[in-house]
Amino acid sequence: MKTRSKIFATAFSLSLAFFSAQNKTIKTHFLDLDGTSTNIKIQPTMYGIFFEDINFAADGGLYAELIKNRSFEFDEPLTGWKQPNTKTLSPNLDSGFLTIITDKSKTNKNYARITVWNDKNYILENEGLRGIGLHQGEKYDLSFNLENISGNISAINTNLIDENGTLISSVSTIIKGGGWQKYNAVFSPSKTVEKAKLEITFTGKGIVNMDMISLFPQETWKGRKGGLRKDLVQKLYDLQPGFLRFPGGCIVEGRTLAERYQWKKTIVKVEDRENLINKWNNGFAHRLTPDYWQSFGLGFFEYFQLAEDLGAEPLPILSCGMACQFNTAELVKMEDLDPYVQDALDLIEFANGDSNTKWGKIRTEIGHSKPFNMKFIGVGNEQWGADYIERYKVFEKAIHAKYPDIKIISGSGPSPDGEFFDYGWKELKKLNAQIVDEHYYNSPEWFLKNADRYDKYDRRGPKVFAGEYAAQSVGVVKPDNKNNWLTALSEAAFMTGLERNADVVTMTSYAPLFAHADGWQWTPDLIWFNNLKSYATPNYYVQKLFSNNKGTDLIKISENGNPLKGENNLYASAVRDLKKEETIIKIVNSSSQETSVEINPKNIKTDNRLTKIVLTSAGLSDENNFQSETIIPKEEVQTIKKGKISVEIPANSLVVLKIK
Ligand code: AHR
Repeated sequence: MKTRSKIFATAFSLSLAFFSAQNKTIKTHFLDLDGTSTNIKIQPTMYGIFFEDINFAADGGLYAELIKNRSFEFDEPLTGWKQPNTKTLSPNLDSGFLTIITDKSKTNKNYARITVWNDKNYILENEGLRGIGLHQGEKYDLSFNLENISGNISAINTNLIDENGTLISSVSTIIKGGGWQKYNAVFSPSKTVEKAKLEITFTGKGIVNMDMISLFPQETWKGRKGGLRKDLVQKLYDLQPGFLRFPGGCIVEGRTLAERYQWKKTIVKVEDRENLINKWNNGFAHRLTPDYWQSFGLGFFEYFQLAEDLGAEPLPILSCGMACQFNTAELVKMEDLDPYVQDALDLIEFANGDSNTKWGKIRTEIGHSKPFNMKFIGVGNEQWGADYIERYKVFEKAIHAKYPDIKIISGSGPSPDGEFFDYGWKELKKLNAQIVDEHYYNSPEWFLKNADRYDKYDRRGPKVFAGEYAAQSVGVVKPDNKNNWLTALSEAAFMTGLERNADVVTMTSYAPLFAHADGWQWTPDLIWFNNLKSYATPNYYVQKLFSNNKGTDLIKISENGNPLKGENNLYASAVRDLKKEETIIKIVNSSSQETSVEINPKNIKTDNRLTKIVLTSAGLSDENNFQSETIIPKEEVQTIKKGKISVEIPANSLVVLKIK
């Protein structure tokens, strides 16, 4: 990561220079659009999404739980919790105190034992995940497990308090009987608050055990109890993604093998999912997030369900026995690799097996008897070197022996070129790998200059999954990176090159996907959110325009017989959508000067109207934000006169033309 950041540190200043053309004359470019079939299909998976629990994307984000460390499982079990009236060292008799009881035989090991000496004074508080976001008019489900041990505690009083200490909703729950019991209550907040906290008080004195203190909005995606944040899933849905890659990213690998993502642990009952430190907790010294853990409330079943909801192919990525090579690079010995391979085989059965199979039965019991029809699986995330190839071979052999139709994604490391990349590709080619994942976090200039990257790829080799990419306005892992218009524009230019090479590139995804404004580690990111709302970046709208207009078949667009890949700062790709009977042209003008194009359609009959969608902004450093999304697509209808398509292409813009 460090090397990459050095290489691209000067990206922003260079990029401004790139766009400094001053010539004001509007030039017309004469383009040819050839409707003849190229026999190249745009794969339905062409534009997808990459999901990783980084930047509070799952816990604190998509997974709508509002309580931090709800079951006291963090390595510091009181993280997120406070007892404002309790002295830490010698609890005062005038209040009460909490201890943690651990049962190591369980996956949810800890629970809180609360001793209340004075119920007028004892308070337990939870601060939420960077506060608790509440919307007036909505309802919130509180639940907790409680065991009444001794004394006369008769009620648990729960209050939601705003930033100024004002009570905004309150509910009391009567405690009955002994043994562990689950209690439920509903809050109706009297106002909208971004950073509320939960306060718990007790009626009576005594001792109770408490665990799984949880708070969810009732308004989740599809109204599912304990579900996903509606506004965030909606943004994913609007992208119409072809696939959903999950659960990462480096989080798949873990800092150590023990901290790798283990899907089987995430499909048990929610309260039994063993919490794990998040890899991004201390990933970057400049953005330490010591309270970042994984509850796995969003686990593998939920990921498959989400993919189904989005109409996207599920694309799980599994550990191949190599911990993150930027961290410990811990390796499982070859003779110990079997359980990792078995995890992959079992996952395919979990997703696709019928209810008579061991893992298909488990899926059915969770509530989904219909198989998910998974077609892809990733072996390792961002691995490199001979150790990877050696392990990949074992996975490939075992997976294809049992499931010959499953397509395997292999990795080419963290960079788009260099020794590791070349070695990975050379070896994977020899092994007839099916789809190779490439990652590139790079400067906007790189994206503009590399729109022809895949023109040079071997047409007979593996297909490409551009699995993680994003233009960095400052440099990789620099905290000042912005999702500005320059980065989005350069990605749009590059994406015309992806589309033009749809015979080689069959899957692509921007990364990372989400970031919490107060909980992020990595920037730039496609969608930013806080506890109440979210906004889409210009980069999001670029992804959306390509994905919503991907078409079904590639056709040719050219100037003087050549593809448009950056000469005169113009980039273009064209597709037909045989289902919608539409021709779609995407043009990027990366110069600071408006230009015009006259497109001459051949071998294609066009309507006399076209829809023109323009995404642009006056300044390259412009951004969207929580207050306003100024960089959004704007649509207009234009007439086509005498079969000639004449269109103005504004300076620094992405223009999508749609013709029936
Ligand atoms: O997207 C952030 C990280 O970048 C991913 O986890 C990793 O695969 C890459 O290095």
